[in-house]
This record gives sequence, C-alpha cells and structure tokens, in this order.
Amino acid sequence: MAKSTVCDRDATQLVSTLPDDLDRQRLPHHVAVIMDGNGRWARQRGLPRPVGHRRGVGALKDLLSYCRDWGIGTLTAYAFSTENWHRPSQEVEFLLCLFERLLQSELDALDENDIRLHFIGELSELPSGLQRSIERARARTQTNEGVRFNVAVNYGGRAEILRACRRLACQVAEGRLSPDEIDTAQFARQLYTADGPDPDLLIRTSGELRLSNFLLWQVAYAELYVTDAFWPDFDRAEFHRALVAFQQRDRRFGQLKSSRDT
Ligand code: IPE
Ligand code: IPE
Ligand code: MG
Repeated sequence: MAKSTVCDRDATQLVSTLPDDLDRQRLPHHVAVIMDGNGRWARQRGLPRPVGHRRGVGALKDLLSYCRDWGIGTLTAYAFSTENWHRPSQEVEFLLCLFERLLQSELDALDENDIRLHFIGELSELPSGLQRSIERARARTQTNEGVRFNVAVNYGGRAEILRACRRLACQVAEGRLSPDEIDTAQFARQLYTADGPDPDLLIRTSGELRLSNFLLWQVAYAELYVTDAFWPDFDRAEFHRALVAFQQRDRRFGQLKSSRDT
C-alpha cells in the first residue's frame, strides 16, 4: 500500500505478505495488546521516558499494518489505563498531548488505509481538546471497512463492568428489563466493545504476567501470549512468533478436544 504513511516504514516498502508457516484460516480475528515497557526501553538506553513512548508509536503503526496486510479484522491497543493517572503529571500530560497530536497527524493516513477507529474507555474525563480529536477521528472513519482499530484510553476493565451494571440497573429500575433477561449476551452489549468479537489473542510485552485491568470480561477465553521484548521492539518477527504460538494452542473452551479435532 504505497499511498500510506501511517502503516509503512518507508514509502517504497511493499505490503507485508503473510509468513508461509501461518495458516490464513486460523488467524485470530481480534488481537488485543498491552503495550508495556516504553519506559524501560528508554532507560536501558539512557534516554528520557518520552523517547520510549514515541518509539512505541512506531511499533503500533507497524502492528496495525501487519493486521491489515495479513487479514486480522480487529486490533485493540491499551494506550492509557485508569491507573495511569497516578503517574507523575508531566508524564500524564505528555501522553495525552501525544495522543492528540497523533490523531491530528495520522488521521488522513488512517482513513486512506480504510482503518475504522473506535475508542474505548471513559472518554468524558479526558481533556476537551482530546475528546474533540477522538470524536473527529471516529466520525471520519466510521464507514471504513478495513481493520477495526480500538484504542483504549482512560480504560479500566473494572470501571467498564461497573458501568455495564449501572446501565442494566437503570433499565430494570425503569421497568424496561427484567433481571431474568440479563445473560452474558445482554451484559456484553453494555460494554464499550459491544459491537465486536472478543479478543482471541492477548499479547503483553515486557514480560509482566498480569492483565493490569485490561478487558477483564472480554478475555475470558483469549489465548495469552507474553514476550520479554519491550513494546518499542515489538516488530514483525515478534508478531509472527505470537501468531505461530497462537496457532499451536489447543483451544478447548472447556471441552475435552479442540473443535479442530472433532
Ligand atoms: C507502556 O509503557 C505505555 C503506557 C502505560 C502508557 P510504560 O510507560 O508502562 O513503560 P514501563 O513499564 O515503565 O517500562
Ligand atoms: C498497562 O501498563 C497499561 C497500558 C499499557 C496502557 P502499565 O505499565 O500501566 O501496567 P502495570 O503498572 O505494569 O500493571
Ligand atoms: Mg509499564
């Protein structure tokens, strides 16, 4: 896709073809990623943390391009958690400014590449300028049919579940819903991710073995993949390894055999 700037490392680069050892029919439909380790990447090099965050943006653009080229329909990236407000204010401000600048500088390229942007999290608590950029990006790309790119900003899984409970409680209080009607499908419809599939692969970088409040409901049956690489170093080879590992998993969903064996 020579016309893109957002997804290609340089203008001459060709579309990345699916590696031969991956089965196109068994790719995940939805990849979620906890992009961790920007600060450590920078510290290791004696650089300030913001440099790590900026390099992390490059890794995310590349990942988006592999999803597009390899036919993965949905990518969800954890950009800022409800807990990240507790970082030093300088870092919080830097990150929020970075998001706003990126939404402005990358929107044309994202749109040209048919990417549909969707934001998950408590957006009303974000600075108003960022809220406006988010709404502009969402509206501009809403009819695109390529990769659906969910960006989690001011996102917390617990807050999302509480919000769903409150919405259901209101419907019950108003007599529009009976408690007996609340099932998993009904509950999932109250989440930020209501109109998409759950992730089937969750990747975390920088070696931490935790969810950090990400998509707590949605990852119930996701395959988990953790790499020691810091996020800015998460490249094509890393993503390839994650997908190979995913295709080697036996997804049983509580049954005795995977559906592939039956
Ligand atoms: C992930 O990198 C980016 C965000 C949480 C916004 P970190 O900033 O958490 O990097 P480390 O974990 O300190 O290395
Ligand atoms: C998770 O990373 C949040 C994002 C990637 C946005 P953190 O660095 O905030 O998570 P912890 O502190 O290691 O749990
Ligand atoms: Mg971290």
